[in-house]
Order: sequence, then C-alpha cells, then structure tokens
Amino acid sequence: MLILGIETSCDETAAAIVQDGHETVAESMATQEDIHGKFGGVFPELASRRHVHLIDHIVGEVLDQSGLTLSDLSAVAVTRGPGLIGALLVGVGFAKSLAYGSRLPFIGINHLEGHLYAACLDGYKLQTPFVALVVSGGHTHLFHVPKEGDYRLIGRTLDDAAGEALDKAARVMGLDFPGGPILDRLSRGADPARVDFPRPMLTRQNLDFSFSGLKTSLLRYLETHPTAVKDHLADIAASYQQAVVDVLVEKALRAAQVCKTETLLLGGGVAANSVLRQQLQDRADQSGFRLVLPSPRYCTDNAAMISAAAYRHFLAGRVDDWGMPVQANLTLSR
Ligand code: KG4
Ligand code: ZN
Repeated sequence: MLILGIETSCDETAAAIVQDGHETVAESMATQEDIHGKFGGVFPELASRRHVHLIDHIVGEVLDQSGLTLSDLSAVAVTRGPGLIGALLVGVGFAKSLAYGSRLPFIGINHLEGHLYAACLDGYKLQTPFVALVVSGGHTHLFHVPKEGDYRLIGRTLDDAAGEALDKAARVMGLDFPGGPILDRLSRGADPARVDFPRPMLTRQNLDFSFSGLKTSLLRYLETHPTAVKDHLADIAASYQQAVVDVLVEKALRAAQVCKTETLLLGGGVAANSVLRQQLQDRADQSGFRLVLPSPRYCTDNAAMISAAAYRHFLAGRVDDWGMPVQANLTLSR
C-alpha cells in the first residue's frame, strides 16, 4: 500500500511516498533556512509563499524518483495541524486537489502523531503501551499512549519549547538559525560543566517543563561575562545544551516510571541531538527500558512520517472528506 505524504506545517516543503507505513520509496524536501535565517526564526508569510512556489515541484519530484504514477497510490495524506496556518493551508489545499483530481482517498494527519510514527520508518514496530517525548521547535510534550490512538498528554512545557530554547540561546550567542544543530556541533569536545546553568522544574514532582528562565540565566551570564562568547563559546553552548538535555532525560524517565511502561519513544527535531540520544541510550542500557529513537533524519520535520502515521488510519478506514479544515492549534490528546 503506497501513501503519498505532504508536510508544510512550518518551514519545510516536503513530500514522500511510503509503502505499508514503514518503507520510504521516495522523498523530496526543500528547507527554507536561507530566507528565515536573517529573521532569527520562521517568518510565517514568507514560509507560505515559499511553499506555494515549491509544492508542485517537490511532489512531482517524488513521483519521478519513485517511477510511480498517481494511479499507483492508495491515498494522499497531509499535515492538517498544528503549525502555521498559512503554511498548512498550502499543503492541505494542494493535497485535497491532487486527491480529488486523482480519485484517491484523502487523510489529514496531526503533525505530532507524525513525529510519533517516524520511528516506524527505521523498522520499529510501535507497540503500546509506551511513553513518548516529542521535542521540537514548537512542542515539548510527554504523552502516555496506553493503546493505539489513545494519546494522553501527561506533561508539557509551560513556556518555550526545548527547540525554541536552543534556537533562542544560539541567537543570543550570535549563531545562525536554527541554533539547535549548531549548538550540538559546537558542543562536541567542549566542557558541559563550565557554566552551571539551572535545571528548571527538575525538583518539581510533576512532568511539566519550563525553559524561559534558562534563557534568562544565559543572558545574565553573558552580561556578567562580556568576553565569554569570544573566549569560550563552545563551553557555553555545551553547558546550556546539557541543562536542557538533563531536564528532558529526567522528566522522560520519570514519566515512564509513573506510567509503569517499559518503552520510551522519542520524536521531533530536538530528538536528533547527539547528547540527548547518548544520555538516554546510556540510561536505557543501565536500567533495561526499551528506547525507541528514530534516525536523526526522521526526527526533524519530514513527509515520510506523515505517510507512516496515515497508514494506520487508512487501514482502519478513517479517511477525511473535502471539507476537512486546517487547525493551527490542533491537539493530539483527548
Ligand atoms: O520537528 P522540527 O523539525 O520542527 C518542528 O516541528 O518544530 O524541530 C525543529 C527544532 C529546532 O528548534 C531545531 O533547532 C531543533 O529541532 N533541532 C535540534 C537538532 N536538530 C534540530 N536541536 C538540537 N540538536 C539537534 N541536532
Ligand atoms: Zn515537527
């Protein structure tokens, strides 16, 4: 069963064809870092315009790459939310027209569900129950998933998302956007104990996060150490990243304990972070829980994860009608 997935919720214009929910047959993606970099974040109107410009070409490219035609497909799936409203509208409008014109079923997918299903593309079988940590530029969410499709939000950030905290910190240090991968690279071989940044919310027994205070402490540190960026940028990057990672790891493990599940699944762009991956893997090896980590390329936004999530809906006969709206603030849990 071949599903064409389309993703335009933020600044990636992406399409992919996936077989049976796990095998990527073809994929194509255009990132927009070149146009958003100078604003230090995604500029919504420019993102939408770029999607309009690229979507036809990107979808054409996956079809060419795969050697398939539209009539070989079983369905067209697209991210319907959450995300930037204008950006979502481009993908959903395009997917609806394509599906309608080709007489194919059409499936709207929650972007966060896509991040959860990304691991299937690496051959993992998603078996419930599990706890999932979705960490991206817009979300830091902990879900308990006792059975398939039953998503229970058990913890979330009260302010900035983890990716946002990394991106904003990088910006303060004069680095490019998106800052997460840059901090990751800079931190290699640097000293993560050089600056003792706070570990927000770690002493609280709940499963929520808060990262805006961490950013403030970085600002204070830079004010009181005016030559720090010049003298030991990599150590500051590593120390800041370590603070974010420590909190994510502890809360994710706590969530698995509270929910009494042995499987912890990670998803979202920040899950590509090498220190977060290594630290969780070490803890998994020590304590015997099962860690499900998508490969880094499927952690960041992509269209194959949308096809993977759609497969399950398609099998269950859940397809959408042409009136399906986009929802910028779509939630995943009940
Ligand atoms: O999932 P994603 O591609 O888009 C959203 O849905 O937001 O996540 C993007 C976020 C950005 O904040 C980016 O800085 C972060 O993921 N990111 C990373 C890494 N790669 C991407 N953060 C830390 N380390 C990385 N290697
Ligand atoms: Zn995402």
